[in-house]
Amino acid sequence: MTPSPVAALEARARKRRFLRPFLGEVLDPQPVWLMRQAGRYLPEYRATRTKAGSFLDLCYNPALAAEVTLQPIRRYGFDASILFSDILVVPHALGQDVRFQEGEGPRLEPIRSAAELSRLDPAKVGARFAPVWETVQRLRQDLPDETALIGFCGAPWTVATYMVEGEGSTDQAQARLWAYRDPEGFGALIDLLVETSIGYLDGQIRAGADAIQIFDTWAGSLPPAELETWVTKPIGRIVAAVRERHPSIPILAFPRGVTGRGLVQFLAGSGLATGAVRGGISIGTAMAIEDVTSALDAAGLNVVTQGNLDPLVLVAGGQRLQQSVRSIQAATRGRPHIFNLGHGIVPPTPPDHVARLMDLIRGGA
Ligand code: CP3
Repeated sequence: MTPSPVAALEARARKRRFLRPFLGEVLDPQPVWLMRQAGRYLPEYRATRTKAGSFLDLCYNPALAAEVTLQPIRRYGFDASILFSDILVVPHALGQDVRFQEGEGPRLEPIRSAAELSRLDPAKVGARFAPVWETVQRLRQDLPDETALIGFCGAPWTVATYMVEGEGSTDQAQARLWAYRDPEGFGALIDLLVETSIGYLDGQIRAGADAIQIFDTWAGSLPPAELETWVTKPIGRIVAAVRERHPSIPILAFPRGVTGRGLVQFLAGSGLATGAVRGGISIGTAMAIEDVTSALDAAGLNVVTQGNLDPLVLVAGGQRLQQSVRSIQAATRGRPHIFNLGHGIVPPTPPDHVARLMDLIRGGA
């Protein structure tokens, strides 16, 4: 007999404490990992990155991608590791030209109309994703048994903004304009990303990922009605499809910049707050964590919370770091919460400050 989703998750959560909040358990100390925990703030990352050649070469090299995933685990013993890859692997796998310029961020050949969608070809994505899935397989062998492995993808809206803008932008104006002028054409791009992301995540879970995070970095640039169409519904389709295939795998979403009633509507509309295995919500820095938890309670939403520490507080360190850590802990005491930042670690972060953060959380200081 196949075990129930909860029983299957319980079996894995016995070894990997990161997974326990998704069963509703409250842990002390809270499980902890940090977004962008593998990255340029670590000298060993910079050394491996140089050896790999380009950033995408690193993402597609299973031995080196596994190595950089393991680096922060060796240093700090986080409760979870996150697969080293990037959200822009998906447009690259679809055939779009994607480059990472040193110090400038990503550059893509923009797609701005329904006609230009014909440049994309979903036929080859399996072959392009294969080395990423191999990285997951290696990691599941090389990680300590107690470390959970998080797989991920970008949410359709955020990935689409990069595909349409051709670079990181402050207002995602081109993507928003296309969505207003030609919702059907833009919707075809979103549909393609929903389907491709489902296959990408399915492969990561089959290869050994314990949980999934969906990053919607630019969700906050959309007004409420558009949020429903381009963020909540597409993520909801991914959540439903992944759960249907893998009901015991916890799913976290990070709709960065979505606050207040919008956050409650996102959680209700995406399906993340239903199901025997809880969903999770990663909180950025736009809301105080206590306002998030009271909104969740008022709406009766059972989800795991994660995040909220400003990455620049980690750069600042000292008393201020201690104060912010304690206030997040106080606001989440008695709830299933995962300690994390409100956005990724930034390159100027002193590695010592991360060690100090771990001491603050695990009681060594
Ligand atoms: O440790 C980890 O978090 C795992 C790997 C990871 C990376 N990117 C590695 C990376 C993950 C989960 C991401 C997600 C990602 N990528 C997001 C969503 C989360 C967020 O930060 O908002 C986004 C928007 C991207 C797209 C992206 N990748 C940008 C805009 C940039 C340039 C900005 C920057 O920080 O350089 C990247 C590059 C990137 N992705 C780096 C790393 C470690 C730095 C590149 C380098 O080494 O030169």
